[in-house]
Amino acid sequence: AFASFKEVLTDGLKHGYAVGQFNVNNLEFLQAIIETAEEERSPVILGVSEGAMKYMNIEYTVAMCKAAAEKASVPVILHLDHGSSYEVVLKCLRAGFSSIMIDASHYPLEENIAKTRQVVHACHTLGVDVEGELGRIGGTEDDLSVDERDATLAKPEEAVRLVQESGIDALAPAIGSAHGLYKGEPKLDFDRLAKIRDLTGVPLVLHGGSGIPDEDIRKAISLGVSKINVNTENQVAFTNKIRELLDKDAKVYDPRKYLGPAREAIKETVREKIRLFGSNNKA
Ligand code: G3H
Ligand code: ZN
Repeated sequence: AFASFKEVLTDGLKHGYAVGQFNVNNLEFLQAIIETAEEERSPVILGVSEGAMKYMNIEYTVAMCKAAAEKASVPVILHLDHGSSYEVVLKCLRAGFSSIMIDASHYPLEENIAKTRQVVHACHTLGVDVEGELGRIGGTEDDLSVDERDATLAKPEEAVRLVQESGIDALAPAIGSAHGLYKGEPKLDFDRLAKIRDLTGVPLVLHGGSGIPDEDIRKAISLGVSKINVNTENQVAFTNKIRELLDKDAKVYDPRKYLGPAREAIKETVREKIRLFGSNNKA
């Protein structure tokens, strides 16, 4: 069975580590993430975006993630990443997701609170935990694209309202990270993060975890971040390995010959992140 989202994040908050959410794009990603979590004795969150769900098919997605969780001896969570509507959330609940993110951050505050509260109500009825988002995280992930000029940081007073009035179990505040590849170094607003932590008390989530310097990751964790999302760095590792192998061998036609090594490349990225986040040997 899947583990409890809230319990895993709360343990991280208590003991000063963060749990990685690694996005699943296909079978090889799933295998790489689970195998590495096992080897590192780390709890792990499988993130599935709406785009990835469309690509893989929702039933296949849940079936393969469930099979992985059942075989695993570490806590595994199946989390909807950036759920865009109540309808999508209900679909995922029915299909068997174990936790949900509702991203209504592009709506005005009152609407974000109302939409998030509606999702929390449905999810909590079923014992499913919810992550909400405040402020707009820049960059691109699948169909979700936010221009740098439209990226806005989360306001601490608004964070308190969203947490208290919607009842979310975890909050993803925009503090300057971005989805996709960074153009230049990201600048995280740590004062803002500390204020939001002090005012809300809930576990915090850092999106756009790819390309952030190690010391910034450590500092964010020390200021209350207990979940960090990573997708792009795994995608880059996977694709670079495939490109390298296809460039080297124009005759290869068995996909396992290049997907296998590409899967190993993801494992190395995931292992580095797990150790950086400090979630190794916590399962
Ligand atoms: O929700 C997914 C993550 O925020 C992905 O971030 O593009 O920096 O890997 P990333
Ligand atoms: Zn994200």
